[in-house]
Amino acid sequence: MRGAYGLFFLIVCLLCLSESHEIKSSRQDVRKFPDGFRFGTSTASYQIEGAWDEDGKTPNIWDHMTHNEPCVIKDCSNGDVALDSYHLYKRDVEILRELGVDYYRFSLSWTRIMPNSFPDKINEAGVQYYNNLINELLKYNIEPMITLYHWDLPQKLQELGGWTNPHIVDWFGDYARQAYRLFGDRVKSWMTVNEPYQICNHGYGDVLKAPILNMKGVADYMCAKYVLLAHARAYHIYDEEFRASQGGNVFIAFSAQWYEPESENDIVAAQDCNQFLWGLYVHPIYAENGDYPPVVKQRVAAKSAAQGYPRSRLIEFTPEEIQYVRGTSDFFGLNHYTTYSVYRNESVQGYYEIPSLYDDAEVILYQKTEWSLGETDLVKTVPWGFYNLLKQIREDYNNPPVYIIENGFASQGGLMDDDRVQYIRNYMSAMLDAMQEGSDIRAYSIWSLVDNFEWMKGYTQRFGIYEVDYEAPERTRTARKSARVYKEIMRTRSLDFSFDPSDITMPLDEGH
Ligand code: BGC
Repeated sequence: MRGAYGLFFLIVCLLCLSESHEIKSSRQDVRKFPDGFRFGTSTASYQIEGAWDEDGKTPNIWDHMTHNEPCVIKDCSNGDVALDSYHLYKRDVEILRELGVDYYRFSLSWTRIMPNSFPDKINEAGVQYYNNLINELLKYNIEPMITLYHWDLPQKLQELGGWTNPHIVDWFGDYARQAYRLFGDRVKSWMTVNEPYQICNHGYGDVLKAPILNMKGVADYMCAKYVLLAHARAYHIYDEEFRASQGGNVFIAFSAQWYEPESENDIVAAQDCNQFLWGLYVHPIYAENGDYPPVVKQRVAAKSAAQGYPRSRLIEFTPEEIQYVRGTSDFFGLNHYTTYSVYRNESVQGYYEIPSLYDDAEVILYQKTEWSLGETDLVKTVPWGFYNLLKQIREDYNNPPVYIIENGFASQGGLMDDDRVQYIRNYMSAMLDAMQEGSDIRAYSIWSLVDNFEWMKGYTQRFGIYEVDYEAPERTRTARKSARVYKEIMRTRSLDFSFDPSDITMPLDEGH
């Protein structure tokens, strides 16, 4: 009998191996989005604003790093001018109108609003800039959706330990309160933190983002705890002080890629990988009992003990903290780009630095060449991975309402971006598949509205559905083919694979 169950389980698992999910994306029919579904595009302050030291703004960790070690960035560039959106925000709103989005997701620069990092001084010029942007959006019926923190921490707070200092919970809460107070009469959608995994693992456990601390397996876990507590503080402040009068929502944007087992022997490895790389941040907020995923807690504690650490490198939450963090997101904000294949065998021993999150997870990841759309693409296109991820979120976390806050494709440039068009259509189709099966997905936003400063890759990678001419003083923004396709998707509220946008004119049509 047990043998029969075993066989049954194996067959079920093999069926679960997700490449077998047949995405309906190659269908030629028109797929409708449900009523009320919302579309947008995303950007972030440091990636577009420029004006790095204008009108009272003080340095953040990206200003500091790029000025002190310019060539940690691939093209030795920085965000000093970027797209100059600080001065050219009206052009940004114009292209948003041209597209016909429902909302625009952008982030606030903490040091533009609070140059001392603390609320003792509010910089009126910085506040005015965001007021102008918000008001311009509202004038055209575009909802402003704000991220409080998209990676540009005040440099002074970094010098105090940044996201590893427990006091960041107060500091971030103070900043959030000012933002709600200043803009909450008009802004109803707030994201606290963009992508805790990138903040902590790339910035504190590696050299992939500022502040390039590279204290693997220690600082990244410290950061995880305080980012989650700081997010929860910002959520509770809204709940207690603003929700009744302002009536908005607060949520967090997780980065979650999909980790697919290489073979049926790697099913557990892939599950562990999903838990270490995004469950670490999602579980404390969304799991019924909160807290870090049990597998992550157990493994890091055991490894830490074996390595001679007196306590787990993953600092535990107290029972009060578990309750404080649990349930603190009105929507599941999801940033998703791609999929990795995962395996675990004996070669994982000694494969990574010890200690490190990847050594703790004991998984090896890679991407398959057949997932490329072409030689020059920079994001592998795996729509079924998106579908699997959405399914897992639905099943593991009681089908939460989801906002897709980022999804997008990088190229090296060019207006005829058929690869990006293919990527976007196939990912949307995978999303519609998940929705047909019951996933409660309410919004979709493309990263990004415009090409911009792509962190360590500088200006060498282009994610925009609008191309930017960095040589022109006005940083000319020009619609790519993908912008035309996206405009038609939003206009018709449907996905039509056969639609060719050659006849859509993109300079703003005043009838819009
Ligand atoms: C970030 C963006 C970034 C994009 C593409 C996301 O992880 O939130 O700021 O530009 O990925 O790499």
